[in-house]
Amino acid sequence: MDNQVVTGAAPTASAFAAIKDAVGLDVTYRVATGRTMRRIYLDSTATTLRLKLVQEVLDRFQPHYSNTHSLLHFGALISTREYQWSHEMVLRFVNADAGGYFCFFIGSGATAGFNRVARTLRAKRPERDVVITTLMEHHSNDLPHRAHFPKVVHVPPSVSGNSLGGVDLGQLERALLENSGRVNYVALTGVSNVTGIVNPIHEAARLAHRHGALIVVDAAQMAAHLPIRTSLDIPQAASLDVVVFSGHKVYAPGSPGVVVARKELFSGVPPQEVGGGMVDTVWEDRYTESEQFPDREEAGTPNIPGAIGLAAALCALRGIGMDAIAAEEEALMRHALVRLAQVPDVIVYGETDTRICRRAGAIAFNLKEMDHALTAAILNDYFNIAVRNQCFCAHPYVRELVMLSLSESADMLDNEALEKLAELHRGMVRASFGIYTTSEDVDALAEALRDIGARRDFYATQYERLPDGNYVHRDFRFDSTRVFSVRKEVGRLLSGVRERSPER
Ligand SMILES: Cc1ncc(COP(=O)(O)O)c(C=O)c1O
Repeated sequence: MDNQVVTGAAPTASAFAAIKDAVGLDVTYRVATGRTMRRIYLDSTATTLRLKLVQEVLDRFQPHYSNTHSLLHFGALISTREYQWSHEMVLRFVNADAGGYFCFFIGSGATAGFNRVARTLRAKRPERDVVITTLMEHHSNDLPHRAHFPKVVHVPPSVSGNSLGGVDLGQLERALLENSGRVNYVALTGVSNVTGIVNPIHEAARLAHRHGALIVVDAAQMAAHLPIRTSLDIPQAASLDVVVFSGHKVYAPGSPGVVVARKELFSGVPPQEVGGGMVDTVWEDRYTESEQFPDREEAGTPNIPGAIGLAAALCALRGIGMDAIAAEEEALMRHALVRLAQVPDVIVYGETDTRICRRAGAIAFNLKEMDHALTAAILNDYFNIAVRNQCFCAHPYVRELVMLSLSESADMLDNEALEKLAELHRGMVRASFGIYTTSEDVDALAEALRDIGARRDFYATQYERLPDGNYVHRDFRFDSTRVFSVRKEVGRLLSGVRERSPER
């Protein structure tokens, strides 16, 4: 079942502790009060910190780094072997049968993957010209389908009391029936990047397959938090045809996007990108494409260190066990929901009862009658808590969630007050977690929100609202280049070189 965690053998405490150490966990900044504080990173849904383990593996690999298209020298042999192994690691991580599936690396995140999938499946199954997706999706799992298909249907999330839950499977089935014979694939997120709500992807897969459609799963948020079962140990009907995710959201920033797909879906269609590496032979007037996977989908020199860093992260996560990681994060999520519910005036969006609707990784909220941008600015400037605000590249979903929450206030407020509230809650604040997030981090967020809510008048006077909707502190300025600047770092290093080699 989608919503259950199967707990495997318990990982050792020291292995768990070792994997949680990440670059940037102990970074400090000076805040508006003049204090220098440790930054609390609650923005892992946007991008995760890099595990120290990944950094160490990359440091050891770097001296050998060479192009995988150079075949015979020692560095190239090491790079090629490990780059190939990174593909094997991905398939193992997502539990895909290596006979029927392949994976390729692409671009700098999942977005490039969705574009490639949309173009390829459009070409592969031209008679099926409809894509069904949902209103919960990140734009990356929506706009590529709109760009390449004449019709995209958006299924809404289910309504659960006064909030929204996961995708409405009844409506999904209706959309499949209404577009019978025309649906190429159902594109569904495994976990929402706004609310962290977990979708029943295997049940959706069954429905899609029953109607001759494929299922494409956006695992960009799922990969770091939940086990992915693509095809192994699940019935064929519930298996996933394509899985897409981003390496930078799985503790390996700087690594590429990933597409895992059934081989048959990408064979017999010309590769969408052409150039070096994807051909067997080129003549002046023609060329023969490689039949090899993943070569035919990876034209050009790949991001080799990125793939190797990602493989290191996936290998470590798999070593701990994604079931164990998911179980620990589930407890943290429950703690966060309880702590936020205790803070006066906090509205948490989406179904909050995790027995009804499971969540992973992210919580979106607002302080009542407070602009999301102001809340996020105060959290950063006074508490050194890094969160994201606005609409998280999911405009339709955020709009739905906000409208539903406003409908609760509609009876109590006049139109003018309601409009003001709608303007302030045009977006949300999102706190998101990674393997390194602690319950103390969550407590710090809850306490900060309590303070902001209690002293909102004080904080409001400290800020000026800019025309772009952001807030700037009236006295406090953060000069990023004093903390880090490439130019200054290079200058410093060069002057160090000169000092060490005065003869030059
Ligand atoms: C659910 C989801 N899908 C897709 C994406 C796009 O990923 P990327 O920006 O790495 O291309 C994101 C990014 O936040 C996401 O959260």
